[in-house]
Amino acid sequence: MTRQILVTSALPYANGPIHLGHLVEYIQTDIFVRFQRLRGHQVAYLCADDTHGTAIMIRAQKEGRSPEQLIAETAVAHQRDFAAFGVSFDHYGSTNSPANYEVCTGIWRDLRAANLVVERSVERLYDPVQKTFLADRFVVGECPRCTTKDQYGDSCEACGATYTATELKNPRSVHSGAPPELRLSQQLFVKLTPLQTFLTEWTQRSGALQTEIANYLAGHFLDKPLQDWDVSRPAPYFGFAIPDAKDQFWYVWFDAPIGYIASTQEWCARTGQSLDHWWKNPQCEIVHFLGKDITYFHTLFWPALLHVGGYQLPKRVQIHGFLRVGGEKMSKSKGTFVTAARYLEHLDPEWLRYYYASKLSSKIDDLDFQPDEFVGKVNSDLVGRVVNLASRAARFVESSGLSARYPDDGGLFATAASLRETLATAYEACDFREATRLVMTLADAANEYVESKAPWTLKKDPARSAELQDVCTVVLNLFHQIIVYLQPVLPQLAAKAGALLGSPCDRWELVTTPLVGTRIAKFEHLMTRVEVAKVQAMFVPESATGTTPLPAPTTPPIAAAVLSSSDTLSSDTLSSDTLSREPLAAEISIDDFQKIDLRIAKVIAAEAVPDAKKLLRLTLSLGSGPTRNVFAGIKGAYEPDQLVGRLVVMVANLAPRKMKFGMSEGMVIAAGTDGHVFLLSPDVGAEPGHRLH
Ligand code: MSP
Ligand code: ZN
Repeated sequence: MTRQILVTSALPYANGPIHLGHLVEYIQTDIFVRFQRLRGHQVAYLCADDTHGTAIMIRAQKEGRSPEQLIAETAVAHQRDFAAFGVSFDHYGSTNSPANYEVCTGIWRDLRAANLVVERSVERLYDPVQKTFLADRFVVGECPRCTTKDQYGDSCEACGATYTATELKNPRSVHSGAPPELRLSQQLFVKLTPLQTFLTEWTQRSGALQTEIANYLAGHFLDKPLQDWDVSRPAPYFGFAIPDAKDQFWYVWFDAPIGYIASTQEWCARTGQSLDHWWKNPQCEIVHFLGKDITYFHTLFWPALLHVGGYQLPKRVQIHGFLRVGGEKMSKSKGTFVTAARYLEHLDPEWLRYYYASKLSSKIDDLDFQPDEFVGKVNSDLVGRVVNLASRAARFVESSGLSARYPDDGGLFATAASLRETLATAYEACDFREATRLVMTLADAANEYVESKAPWTLKKDPARSAELQDVCTVVLNLFHQIIVYLQPVLPQLAAKAGALLGSPCDRWELVTTPLVGTRIAKFEHLMTRVEVAKVQAMFVPESATGTTPLPAPTTPPIAAAVLSSSDTLSSDTLSSDTLSREPLAAEISIDDFQKIDLRIAKVIAAEAVPDAKKLLRLTLSLGSGPTRNVFAGIKGAYEPDQLVGRLVVMVANLAPRKMKFGMSEGMVIAAGTDGHVFLLSPDVGAEPGHRLH
């Protein structure tokens, strides 16, 4: 049965750029959305910028422009970043839209009609310099319980105490540094106690929440009468003026979640659908994705608003943990606060999608970005175990195409197909770690098959061409299944693989029918390996200028960790019998070795050699003296652009050799065989010209 699913990610604040932490959420949601689409369900994926509040107002003021200008610029940047990471929203709106004002007004009217709005005068902190009331997060001072300095106005990071901003000792405004004054303000509150039974029932028994979340709410909020919720803010405030209250604005957390509905409204208007079909239809499953920091807004206030406004409640609220980098909170000064834009300057977005998928479960645990793990997962799992399957088989059937009948494969295809329900369950639960783990077991089985059949050996014997075609047919079919299963995670790779195989990878059930008799396109590179140096280059402390990698002494710890880690991919991608395939050479003396002058060299330029299948032309520098022109058989394994600037090891005293394409003045050292070539890099500190001893 086709399901109808409305999915949202939290609306990012318009006062800052999208960063790697945000992407945990948007990538997670997008994988879920693409999985549902792959299964043939009807999905609407909606989001918007969250534009209101004091922070945006003050930033715009500082920058000498209007909040509207600021949010318009951010909207473009956010959407550009999301598009680059393949996040496939059906509509991306803004909370500062006429549609949002309209939905807010409707819900407000319903709250008034239900007698849930009360007015009270409260003391609030006021910044006499900025002439604005101060939200909790904009006051810092000493914790009233443990006296730790520099704590925010709502809670203490040292002892965990929660309090109101007026209780802080020695408070000051983060905007002006001035001590805030207490001023009376008339505020509007939404009463929640009349909804307490409903909220208890929904949070504890609807099944919409993860157990940990339901328990947290029961233990921290629902165990006593719920406090009234202060939903108004005095002028000046950047937001919507409350239609029936003088000089009062809706607090940003009132209109932000309503933005989910407003974004749907805009999408419906654009596509000729009815909003009620999505938000007032019990058949439609509403699923929210969000981080643990905003649990309380989405699991108490938001259901209250939906309930009173007559909208459907979410079927599921999927809450995730926070991203840390190298075990610590992201930090600008350490260079671990990486924006989406900075990541894109250095690395392929699909690598991050795969990396996050391989770490995300349905739990709320935090997630740690570990640079070596990132390199390992991309290079040995994704490229080494999955992508290489295609490169090991496709080139042998470029002219013949696939066999007309699917050959006997000892049950491999059937086993992979039979995993689809288990895999679907893992995806449905957002246990993407389990989903990718299962797919990797399929890749392992496929690689064992390749090793045992050794198509590169069959290729040498023309009498065995039919056997070669059958082996490649099996391998490419197993590859196709794997790619269909990974399509939600790696949509771009799936599109390229579909083009190679001449059959799309866009329906889950495709895994049950083997591809036979089809043509295979000319093999093109599907995905390159990540280079450690590029990951290093991404982690640049804010004080450093530009985005070039830092010289060794100032290298941030995180980057040092990357570089000192050994690259484990060759042992994973090559079979264990590498030694028997290429036995050790005869013993030599130290003098023999000394004859070979191995040097560190820097790649100054790299380009493909037209007409040469395997060669790249490299211009190498030894630090001084003339540059060397070297042809290296690494096309296909490396993009020329990737190589420029990196260090390699070269045989510097090899006699120049005239080749068809020009003189080769040396040789670059690499490991591996059969198109699986791995250049060697020195650790940090080595320089062009250094000799290897
Ligand atoms: N504007 C609010 C959400 C309103 S929803 C009606 C907000 N914005 S945010 O930009 O701070 O965060 C957007 C989403 O990204 C939130 O779900 C938040 O939890 C998530 N993340 C922000 N930083 C994150 C990490 N470092 N790690 C993981 N998720 C993070 O909150
Ligand atoms: Zn404290």
